[in-house]
Amino acid sequence: MGRKSTVLEVRRLCAGYGKRKKYRQVLFDVDLCLDRGEILGLVGESGCGKSTLSKAILGFVPAKSGQIIHHTSRPQMVFQDPFSSLNPGKKIGWILEEPLRMQKDRLPAGERREKAVTMARRVGLDESFLERYPGDLSGGQRQRVSIAISLIQGSELILADEPVSALDVTIQKQIMELMLGLQEELQLSYLFISHDLDVIYQMCDRVMVMQAGRIVEEGEVERVFGAPEHPYTKELLAASL
Ligand SMILES: Nc1ncnc2c1ncn2[C@@H]1O[C@H](COP(=O)(O)OP(=O)(O)OP(=O)(O)O)[C@@H](O)[C@H]1O
Ligand SMILES: [Mg+2]
Repeated sequence: MGRKSTVLEVRRLCAGYGKRKKYRQVLFDVDLCLDRGEILGLVGESGCGKSTLSKAILGFVPAKSGQIIHHTSRPQMVFQDPFSSLNPGKKIGWILEEPLRMQKDRLPAGERREKAVTMARRVGLDESFLERYPGDLSGGQRQRVSIAISLIQGSELILADEPVSALDVTIQKQIMELMLGLQEELQLSYLFISHDLDVIYQMCDRVMVMQAGRIVEEGEVERVFGAPEHPYTKELLAASL
């Protein structure tokens, strides 16, 4: 049994928004460690700082103090509403090939297309989708496209911020199964943000509970949900029944 490798470490991270007098701290001494092939859940009420943590990990929100250590290539985001991140004027094929066009050693056009087709199939979209525009896709299909973009970029770590919250239950299930399948097959790691405890329970190995920018409890999902220790976790669980 080899030692598990860590893909991401966050140590005593403090971060927030605004400058000087207007500065408002959102995250307080957040620690996290994510192993290769692990799915770490993050729950907590609206406004507690979940998205801020994922933005800080990506470098979009500056750290006031603490450390963020990446042990793998740059993580990719999968958002709640992928529509806003997909260029509405471009076909899906073009969108999927975009990260490949941006690479330093550009692949020839034929190979780019081939990769786009392969990734589209891998997320359950056949080749005909490459000729469609984002606006002609359902929410679930758009979410498949944004997952394919992450894969094309070769990310081993995916920050998934409420990736299934905007979808109805049947489609939610399909996207969750897709993400679980890819995770297993490619040994991906996810930081999986959701306010839905059922979704967290089904998806995650471990979970962190955030309250007002602090992690108040962390552990194996079965343990945290089965025998919560922190009053706030108990409150969240009671509220979701
Ligand atoms: N760009 C910003 N500038 C200033 N304040 C912000 C900005 N983005 C978020 N905030 C504030 O930071 C706090 C945490 O927001 P964040 O989006 O991280 O919450 P969240 O846990 O993701 O909530 P939700 O579950 O609703 O998505 C909130 O008080 C929010 O108003
Ligand atoms: Mg959020």
